[in-house]
This record gives sequence, C-alpha cells and structure tokens, in this order.
Amino acid sequence: MIEHISFAPLEGITVAAFRHVHRDVFGGADTYYTPFLATNQHHHFKHRDEREYLPYDPQLIPQVLTANAVDFIWAAREIASAGYEEVNLNLGCPSPTVVTKGKGSGMLADPERLNAFFEEVFAAEDLPRISVKTRIGYNDASESAALGEVLGRFPFCEVIIHPRVRTDLYKGTPNLEAFRAMAAQLTCPVCYNGDICTPEDAARVSKELPGVSRFMIGRGLVADPALAREIKGGDPATVEEMQTYLDAMWDAYREANFAEKDILFKMKELWFYMGSRYPDREDALARIRKSKDPDEYRDAVRRLL
Ligand SMILES: Cc1cc2nc3c(=O)[nH]c(=O)nc-3n(C[C@H](O)[C@H](O)[C@H](O)COP(=O)(O)O)c2cc1C
Repeated sequence: MIEHISFAPLEGITVAAFRHVHRDVFGGADTYYTPFLATNQHHHFKHRDEREYLPYDPQLIPQVLTANAVDFIWAAREIASAGYEEVNLNLGCPSPTVVTKGKGSGMLADPERLNAFFEEVFAAEDLPRISVKTRIGYNDASESAALGEVLGRFPFCEVIIHPRVRTDLYKGTPNLEAFRAMAAQLTCPVCYNGDICTPEDAARVSKELPGVSRFMIGRGLVADPALAREIKGGDPATVEEMQTYLDAMWDAYREANFAEKDILFKMKELWFYMGSRYPDREDALARIRKSKDPDEYRDAVRRLL
C-alpha cells in the first residue's frame, strides 16, 4: 500500500520554479527534493543553490552532494538553520565528474570509507535528521550486502533505494530482489525509487514489495505531472490543466530571471519526457522541438494539446 510519494531530485529539471508550479497545479507528491547541492571547502553554498532551499519550505528536503564528512556536517547545520529538520545525502549520482571525486555513487565503491564517513557524521551534535538516497552497488548487485550492512549501523530517518548499480546509469530493469535484500538489512523506513511511469507500474511494484509504503518518482512524474495524484486514486491530467501547467511554468522561469532562450530550452527538456504520453503525435512533437521562439513554441503546444 503506497502511503507516501516523493518527487525525486532531477538536476536541471526539478528546480524551485518547476517544483512550485507542479505543486500548485497538480500536487499529489507529499515531498519534493532539491537537486543536489554541492558543498565546497569554503563552506558557503552558491547563490543559485541557496535559492533552491530558501525560504524554508515544509514540503522540501534539501539534498547534499559531498564525500567529506566535515563539509556534510557544515551543510546539514546550514540547512537546519533555515528551518529544515531533515537533510538527504546523495549516494547515487553516476556522473563521471562526480564519481571520479569519490562523491555520489562513488561513495559506494568503498564500504569502509562510507562507514568512516557516517561514523564522523553521526558523532556530530546538533544535526537535523539524515536520510540517504543510494544505489545497490557500484559495479555489481552482489555489493549490496556489504553496503546494507554499513547503512544498517546508522540511525537514518529514511533510506531511499534506487535498485541499480552505478554502471547501469538509468538503464536496465530495477533489481527488486536486491532491493528486498538491502531493505531487510535496515531498521529505518525504506523508500523505493525507479521506473514508475504509470499507476499500473506503481501497483505492480507495490505488490512485489509488500511492506514498502514509500515511493519516490522522478522521470515518470515529469512525463505525466498528474501521476502521483493518479496513483492516489485521483484523475488524470486534463488538457486545460496541462495548458495551465505549461503557461505557469513559463511564467515561473521568467520570474526566476531565466532568459527567453533558456526558458525555451527548459520547456523542450520537459517535452523530452512528456512526449512519451503522445506516442501518435510525432509531427506535433517535432514542431515543438524545432520551435525557435515563444510564439512558435506556444502555437506548437496548442496544436498538440
Ligand atoms: C536528468 C537527471 C538528473 C538527476 N539528478 C539527480 C540529483 O540531483 N540527485 C539525485 O539524488 N538523483 C538524481 N537523479 C536520479 C533520480 O532522482 C532518480 O533516482 C532516477 O531518475 C530513477 O528514478 P525514476 O526512474 O523515477 O526517474 C537524476 C536523474 C536524471 C535522469
């Protein structure tokens, strides 16, 4: 039984403007995450990152990317001082630029180092609750037992498991068996993440993972912004809602001071995902992709919807 749905962090997509519009027009997600906020040794977040979690938003969980315990402790305190009671650590990012620095899923390559990181973090005082978003291994799912053992030693408020290994990136079938095995090693609430694109996917995975009531959805919710609502028994998106959503999204990016050409790029990026809902409309989708200015874009969208 699915009781809690969160909108996964997607760097470059689920930025503040996007999250606010999604919540206002469709809702259905219980929590949202910031895309990862990278720390640095100077201990200040970039202005762009601060805008992701300020002002305080009770439905938001800020996510941090770092492999340095001192930097994480600083970031967690900084975020807590803005009112947040939970901070999430990224243990899943597979991007080479992140992994080569030992961050994101790079932290999964060495369970002993991971253990030392959390020993240091949990020895610190005055920290908010800590959750992690992890994969099941770096190279191979057989690594999940050692990782689960490490994670099982620490008092996380939640562990979100995306049951792929780093080398899978986002391809292949999520490994539900490895998810079950890792979840069994943990005592905290566990959340499932991966390839939920329809209410039927949610029902199927939920049946295969009895006892898991928390689901995180990323690309499926970008493709179908009403998906969380539908999974909870609500209605699919109407044409009018989609039009309102897209208009509000454009306006929100403009208010966030994005240049027009960047807004057009961002809207096309959303259509990269939303296009899957219109499989018979390749001509109309191509017109959106090729649009060169706001008028052409809006006209192409109106025709499609
Ligand atoms: C474009 C893109 C950006 C992502 N950015 C982040 C991120 O900032 N932090 C994170 O933990 N995961 C990130 N992810 C991973 C997603 O949160 C999620 O784990 C993954 O897409 C699988 O879930 P899904 O099948 O529901 O999309 C990203 C994925 C994609 C495709």
